[in-house]
Amino acid sequence: MKIFLDTSDVKVIRKYCEIGLIDGVTTNPTLMKQAGRNPVEVISEISSLFNSDASISAEVVADSAKDMIIQAEQYHSINKNVTIKVPCTYEGLKACKKLSDRDIKVNVTLIFSLNQSILAVKAGATYISPFIGRCEDNDIDGIDLISSIRKIFKLNNITKTHILAASIRNIDHINDSYKAGADIVTLPPKIFEEMYKHFLTDQGLAQFDKDWKELNK
Ligand code: G3P
Repeated sequence: MKIFLDTSDVKVIRKYCEIGLIDGVTTNPTLMKQAGRNPVEVISEISSLFNSDASISAEVVADSAKDMIIQAEQYHSINKNVTIKVPCTYEGLKACKKLSDRDIKVNVTLIFSLNQSILAVKAGATYISPFIGRCEDNDIDGIDLISSIRKIFKLNNITKTHILAASIRNIDHINDSYKAGADIVTLPPKIFEEMYKHFLTDQGLAQFDKDWKELNK
């Protein structure tokens, strides 16, 4: 069960890395725009915060597989832990197949159907990213999609491709994604915060602090 952070904010990633529970990072062009910095520099800085087992997704943006591969090579040369993210399109899948054949890890993103998942597996993807929140926005059951992908993976003994639940908008999405068989969830930092917070923890802690002070008066 892995947890990734879904952000391009290096400062925030550095802060959350300190807890030792973060296994990787996903970025996308929108998150890069929010960071407002050179994407190659951002990916270099993020990847240096993690060991070689981590996965840092860097998304390529181009119309052709050929141009996607050129960008991918630049990201791949940064560090072993950089994963290339491609969209689930004809050119994206073509790039995925070529990169995977060279043992370069690829995350096929913007997944909304089982058909797309099957093609991404065939293209050798290391990760596929079903977008749970955006599925819901469009009346698609994203959690059911994860269950169906997991079922197909079991039936076909697929272990090389990992299900990375993305577009996570609340803590129920996290629980439901794992229950449905996701290997990884990628979380906006504010959703990660919500994972460990509970009002009963705060209440209990206040009482313990009070009793401890009284004992030590
Ligand atoms: O991981 C994908 C994510 O960044 C998209 O999230 O909330 O814009 O659908 P959202």
